[in-house]
Amino acid sequence: MPGALHRRPTRSTRLLAPPLQQVDRTRVRWHGRKFAYFAGCDYFRLASHPAVLRALREGLEKFGLNVAASRATTGNHRLFALLEQRLAAFFGVEDAVLVSSGYLSNQAVTQTLAGRFSHALIDERAHNSLVDAAQFLDCPIYRFKHRDAVDVARILARLGQWARPILLTDGLFSHDGSVAPLKLYRHTLPTDGWLLVDDAHAAGILGRMGRGTAELEGISRARLIQTVALSKAFGVYGGAVLTTRALAREIRARSRLFNGNTPLPLPLAAAALRALSLVRTDPLIERLARKTAYVKSALRAGGFPVTDSPAPIVALAPPTRRDRQRCERRLLHYGVFPSFIRYPGGPAKGYFRFALSSEHSRAQLDALVAALLESAKDFLTESAG
Ligand SMILES: Cc1ncc(COP(=O)(O)O)c(C=O)c1O
Repeated sequence: MPGALHRRPTRSTRLLAPPLQQVDRTRVRWHGRKFAYFAGCDYFRLASHPAVLRALREGLEKFGLNVAASRATTGNHRLFALLEQRLAAFFGVEDAVLVSSGYLSNQAVTQTLAGRFSHALIDERAHNSLVDAAQFLDCPIYRFKHRDAVDVARILARLGQWARPILLTDGLFSHDGSVAPLKLYRHTLPTDGWLLVDDAHAAGILGRMGRGTAELEGISRARLIQTVALSKAFGVYGGAVLTTRALAREIRARSRLFNGNTPLPLPLAAAALRALSLVRTDPLIERLARKTAYVKSALRAGGFPVTDSPAPIVALAPPTRRDRQRCERRLLHYGVFPSFIRYPGGPAKGYFRFALSSEHSRAQLDALVAALLESAKDFLTESAG
């Protein structure tokens, strides 16, 4: 239809952020200039790692794009089982069930566990994928205050001793980098209470071996189900449920989603295998941790309020529109892309979210610190006055 591309944007297209052009692994072109890029969730920049891209290309040539059938029918392939084995070994669990996206991994769990719990408790700022997934549990759902184990205890006390609850939470909250108090939840839940932790952001980066918030918090795997995304630290796409052999078998047997969904394209499975082995063998986790500590301690020393967690995320919510514009100008002046976003879970009016990567240069980190310290000084002075 002639002219169709030139129609005025609809409300839904206006809601999307303007497209960005990637220049290299840490820079984007925006309005004709190059800026250091601290947004997104590609914490090791594996989405552009030559070895991962090579595995993707080789996978495409060897296996084609799509199995075009569910794994329950004719779409199974040995590469899927290999990736599941490697994921289970990486995360130190009995089994992993591959799902075609991180978002859907939570639904694969709750469909399987429908009717198994008397109540579900969910963090009021949990990711949309957990909110959607909770509906499948087929039991009353209670929202508790963000990261508040005392509120969890208050709700549980009301439910009484016969309650058999499951608690749903993000492991690492991506809007500010805070970590869920899993150890406190574990102590607060009854002995037969379960935890479903969406570790999309912590998988691969937190904990000594990159096993996520369970490793970081030092909690046991008993009655814990961890879901992960392959689209963030691993730079690829897809998701997985990390659990016991028994529950994995049940998911494969009973989840409508697992059985009725085409698995992720085989070239992506090949790329994910490569990404996983890079995270295991290259010193990426240490490098990211070092850079995160460098930036966070420089910000803290300058009086910037930094979330107390090892996550490579720094957030800043400007109090007014004028503050936002001033901060944007500072960032641009220092050559940093002003990543101001609105995302469920974060402040409603939007916020600056900066994600550090293992691949940013010292000069890029220093530029971010300098711009943020100048801005924070402004905000703090204003609110103090
Ligand atoms: C906490 C959390 N869970 C799940 C997802 C969904 O992962 P994916 O985009 O790989 O489907 C995201 C993605 O933004 C997320 O932040």
